[in-house]
Amino acid sequence: MLTHNISSTLADTLRNRRQKLAQLIDFPVILWSGASSPRNFPANAYPFRASSHFLYFAGLPLPNAAIRLEGGKLELFMDDPAPGSALWHGEMPTRSDIAEKIGADVARTMSELKHRGSGAASIPVQNYQTSLVQSQVLRRQISSPDDLEGLDRELAKAIVTLRLSHDAEALTELRQAAAVSVAAHKAGMAATPKAKLEAEVRAAMEGVIISHNLTTSYNSIVTVHGEVLHNEVYHHALQPGDLLLADVGAETPMGWAADITRTWPVSGKFSATQRDIYDVVLAAHDACIAKIHPGVEYRDIHLLAATVIAEGLVDLGILQGNPQDLVEMDAHALFFPHGIGHLLGLDVHDMEDLGDLAGYEDGRNRSSRRGLVYLRLNRPLRAGMLVTIEPGFYQVPAILNDAQNRSQYRDVVNWERLSQFADVRGIRIEDDVLVTAAGGDILTSALPNDADTVENIVQG
Ligand code: GLY
Ligand code: MN
Ligand code: MN
Repeated sequence: MLTHNISSTLADTLRNRRQKLAQLIDFPVILWSGASSPRNFPANAYPFRASSHFLYFAGLPLPNAAIRLEGGKLELFMDDPAPGSALWHGEMPTRSDIAEKIGADVARTMSELKHRGSGAASIPVQNYQTSLVQSQVLRRQISSPDDLEGLDRELAKAIVTLRLSHDAEALTELRQAAAVSVAAHKAGMAATPKAKLEAEVRAAMEGVIISHNLTTSYNSIVTVHGEVLHNEVYHHALQPGDLLLADVGAETPMGWAADITRTWPVSGKFSATQRDIYDVVLAAHDACIAKIHPGVEYRDIHLLAATVIAEGLVDLGILQGNPQDLVEMDAHALFFPHGIGHLLGLDVHDMEDLGDLAGYEDGRNRSSRRGLVYLRLNRPLRAGMLVTIEPGFYQVPAILNDAQNRSQYRDVVNWERLSQFADVRGIRIEDDVLVTAAGGDILTSALPNDADTVENIVQG
């Protein structure tokens, strides 16, 4: 049974978003939710996740549905459940019931959409089956999502304008995702002393998320090999000297995400070397959050993190030279090879299906510099934006053992000193920060990040 309910305030919010879109563009729009894909037998499907652009305007995660928007008017297209579906999935609401919930003016079958595609703009859905249908209905080849042209590009830009700043209803959802993610991280820390495998800590964390009837907003990273940035295996044994890096976030039933990372010692006590590096990463994290304010360039926040990390590594004797010069030569990026964060909303890397259209201000392009190539957001901050701040330090063998890097940075890295920090493979500290008129509001602040408190939680 489809159980999601839409409150009257959410229905108003959805209407409001559609009206705002209508003020930005003057052509029809069709947005598909995407197909539910069977694993084999059609009633055994892969977990379904509706397209975020569809969710933003329609509110409900309906599989195999589409909406057509024109002048603020909403038409819903979806088929009634197939015969026999009630046996496997229970009674479903009718198309008209759903149309009423989301405030649609008309409810039609999917086949009726075939005649409504001409002149409409759309955003390609990731799923191949749906993108074929999109091309058929629109009677043109739909371009790749990160290379949109014509009306599709205009539509994408209008959607970006709306989705960059979160409305009150979105913030309620985002705060809920953040609160449950905070509880998940506390449970992960508390479960560590008795856990033998990474998988057990992951289970404790995801158990909290699932028990709140939320899901994960990306594949959890719970690993003693934090140097693998998106490590998605959980079979390693936990050893007393290890650091455990957990990057785990929840997603609400309406699709809104949180994204948190903490790194803690398996034994409940950081070694001196782990603590030294942890405090450098935390100093970068705190400096960046303190700088968040409308009008501040996110790129400058990234460069601030780079500078604080370079200073810290100079103080520890790992890097040698003037921190500013080290940042200019991207030496910090040997250890902090990614961007300081990204937009967060319905997607964990919000709107990255549109390439850099959302993340980069008009007219700006991604730099190929080692220290900037993974900068995912390059805009002045505006009130209502939600961003992550996630500095890190990693010893990635593919970077540090690379002969060209060794040669290029031979004078600025003290390799012998670095070898004393072998028990620090990866540390990341990540929080979700809402930009407000007064500065930054940390939605995930209920989760401590200072080393002493983290140790205390792990020790119980
Ligand atoms: N969880 C993925 C990221 O932090 O970007
Ligand atoms: Mn993140
Ligand atoms: Mn993350």
